[in-house]
Amino acid sequence: MHTVTFSAAAPYIIEQDYAAYTAEQHAVWTELVGRCMPELEKHAAREYLDGFEIIGLERDRLPNLAAISARLGPRTGWSSTPVSGFLPAPAFFEMLSMRAFPTTTWLRSRDSLEYTPEPDIFHDVFGHVPMHAHKVFAGFLEHYGRFCAAKEDAAAIEKLGRLFWYTVEFGVIRQNSEIKVYGSGLISSHGECLNVCSGNCAIHDFKLDEVLDTPVKVDELHKLLFAVSSFDQIFDAMHETERRAMQGRL
Ligand SMILES: [Fe+2]
Repeated sequence: MHTVTFSAAAPYIIEQDYAAYTAEQHAVWTELVGRCMPELEKHAAREYLDGFEIIGLERDRLPNLAAISARLGPRTGWSSTPVSGFLPAPAFFEMLSMRAFPTTTWLRSRDSLEYTPEPDIFHDVFGHVPMHAHKVFAGFLEHYGRFCAAKEDAAAIEKLGRLFWYTVEFGVIRQNSEIKVYGSGLISSHGECLNVCSGNCAIHDFKLDEVLDTPVKVDELHKLLFAVSSFDQIFDAMHETERRAMQGRL
C-alpha cells in the first residue's frame, strides 16, 4: 500500500475505479497493444520488454494500477499512482522525487488510437512504467524529479525538459549495434516507433551539449533523436546537468 504524503501533488491524487472500465475500453487497450507489440518485440530495448513482464502487464486487459505497483514496489520502490490528469510542474516533480509515477486512468477512444493531446493510461502505463522496473532508470527518474523540484529558474527548467524529452519520452539506445527504443513516446505511438525503426529519423550519439541545445517539437514526427550506449549514460548526463546548473552554466 502506498503511504507517502504529497503536498503539491495532493489535489491531483485520485483512485482508479477499475470496475468502471467497460468491455469496449478493454477491447481498445487490446487493440492498442496489438498495434504496437509486433514492432516492439523487434525494436524495443530488452529492459523495456523485461519490465513489461516484471510488472505483469496484460495484453488484453487494462492495467490495475494497485496490482502494477505491488509488483514494482519491491523491485525499485516505484509506484504507478493514479492522478486526475496533466500535472503542474511542482506536483509532477514532487511525485517523481517520491518514486510515485503520476498515472492517468482514462483511455483514449477507438477513433483516436494513434494520438491523444494529453497522456492517457496507455501512454503512461504501457509507454512509461515497464522501464521503472530497471534499477538505473528508476534511480535516474527519481533523481531528475528531486533536482527539478528544487529549481525555479525557467531557462534551466527548459533545458532539463529537453533532457527528459530525449530520454524518458523519446529515448533510444544502441544494443548489439542496433537502435532500440525505450522512450514512452516511441513505445506508445505506432507512428513514432515506425518512423525511427524504418530509419526515417537521424540518430546521433547522445552528447549532453547537443541534447540540451535541441528544442522539443511536438507537432511533427522526430527528425533527430539521440542514442545512449547504456542507461548509466543518462544518469551521468543528469549529474553533469546538475553540476552545470549549480555553477550557473545551464
Ligand atoms: Fe510521457
